[in-house]
Amino acid sequence: MTVLVCVGSSCHLKGSYEVIELFKSRIAKEHLEDKIQLKGTFCLGKCGVAGVSIQVDDEIITGVTEKNFDQVFESHILSKL
Ligand code: FES
Repeated sequence: MTVLVCVGSSCHLKGSYEVIELFKSRIAKEHLEDKIQLKGTFCLGKCGVAGVSIQVDDEIITGVTEKNFDQVFESHILSKL
């Protein structure tokens, strides 16, 4: 599975760095390094939405924040592994 975190300027301002750090620590905690490829990406075209945009394989998920990160991880990533 490939997880792209948008690091375009809008998402960067809305916390891409923090979201990437949360991904790194959760992936390490769950020992998912072999299953998830984490990368940064340029603008996913969803800047108007609050929070950070990410792409999980072909699906774009908007509105990711530090607060809802665990829920997003569980429903869009863990459940699909
Ligand atoms: S900068 Fe992230 S969707 Fe545009």
